[in-house]
Amino acid sequence: MKPTLTQELLLSLTADTPSISPKFFYDEIGSHLFEVITLLEEYYPTRTEKWIMDTYQSEIANAVGSCDALLDLGAGNCIKASKLFNSIKPKQYHALDISKEFLQAAVNDLQKQFPHIEMSAHAIDFSQTLAFPNLENLRKIFFFPGSSIGNYDPENADVFFSNLANQCNGNGGLLIGVDLVKDTQTLDLAYNDKLGVTAAFNLNALLYVNKLTGSNFNLANWEHHAFFNTSKSRIEMRLRALDDVKVTIPGLDSKDHVLSFKAGDLIHTENSYKYTQDHFVEKLRRAGFENIHYWTDPNNHFLVCFVNAKKIT
Ligand code: AVJ
Repeated sequence: MKPTLTQELLLSLTADTPSISPKFFYDEIGSHLFEVITLLEEYYPTRTEKWIMDTYQSEIANAVGSCDALLDLGAGNCIKASKLFNSIKPKQYHALDISKEFLQAAVNDLQKQFPHIEMSAHAIDFSQTLAFPNLENLRKIFFFPGSSIGNYDPENADVFFSNLANQCNGNGGLLIGVDLVKDTQTLDLAYNDKLGVTAAFNLNALLYVNKLTGSNFNLANWEHHAFFNTSKSRIEMRLRALDDVKVTIPGLDSKDHVLSFKAGDLIHTENSYKYTQDHFVEKLRRAGFENIHYWTDPNNHFLVCFVNAKKIT
C-alpha cells in the first residue's frame, strides 16, 4: 500500500540522516516563494534559460521538428511551454504537475488563447509513473525545463531518461534545461540570496509539514543552510536546529511521535545537482537519445538540450 504523506514524512524525519523531500516545498506559499526566487538577482537559472530559449527560439523549433503532443513535465503555471506554442506548434498539449492547485486554471486560460491546441491537465507525480497509453502513435516531445532534473540523484536521472526515451517509441524527443557547474561563489549566492527568500522557501517546508501532519515545528528554532558540495557537484539545502528541540507528530493510531533534535542537527531538504555540458550530453546518449542539439548562454551558466529518441531498428 502507498504510504500516507504523514508516514512518508515520519520515516524520512526519523532516518539516520533526517530529511524532508523537496516536493514539500510547494504548497501555495512555497510555490509563490519559488516564483519570487526566479526574480532574484542572485538566482540566474530561470532568467538564463529564458534568454537561451528566446535567443535560439527558431533553431530550437527546427531541431524539434514536428510535434503531435507536447508533454510538459512540472508545468506549474504553463508559461514556459506556452512560449513554445507559436514556434513548435504542438497539436496537443498535456500539462503534468504534482500539484493540481494552479494547473487546471492555467490550462483553462491557455486553452482560450490557443483554441486550436487540444489541451489537458494531469495532477500526477511523473517521477513515479510515466505511461501515456493514449498517445502511443503520436510523436511526443517531452519538455523538462528549469533544471528540475537537478533534484534527481544522478542514478535516478539515468532511469528517468531511459523511461522517457522508451516512451518516445523511436520517434519523439526531449527538450530539457539543466544548470551547469560554475564557480562556487555564484552557486552559493544563488541559494543564499540577501533578501532571504530562499531561506523563507526552505523554512516554509516546515510549515507545510505542520499543515499536512499536524506537527509543531517552530520556525524560530531553525535556520536555512545551503552550500555547493564540490565533490558531489550539488547544492545541498538543509534546515539547522538552533537549539535542542522536540517536535510532536500526531500518529494515525492517535499515538504521538516525538522527534528530538540537538542544536546543530540538520534536516536535509534538497539536492540540486549541477552538470558539465559533456557529462550531461553523455548521460542523455547513454539513456537512449541521439542527434543531440544544445544551446548555452555566453557565460556557460545554463544548458538547453534537444535530443531525439533513438530510432527503433
Ligand atoms: C526548481 C529544483 C530547479 O534547484 O534551483 C531554488 C529549486 N531551491 N532555490 C533549484 C530551488 C532553492 C530549484 N529547482
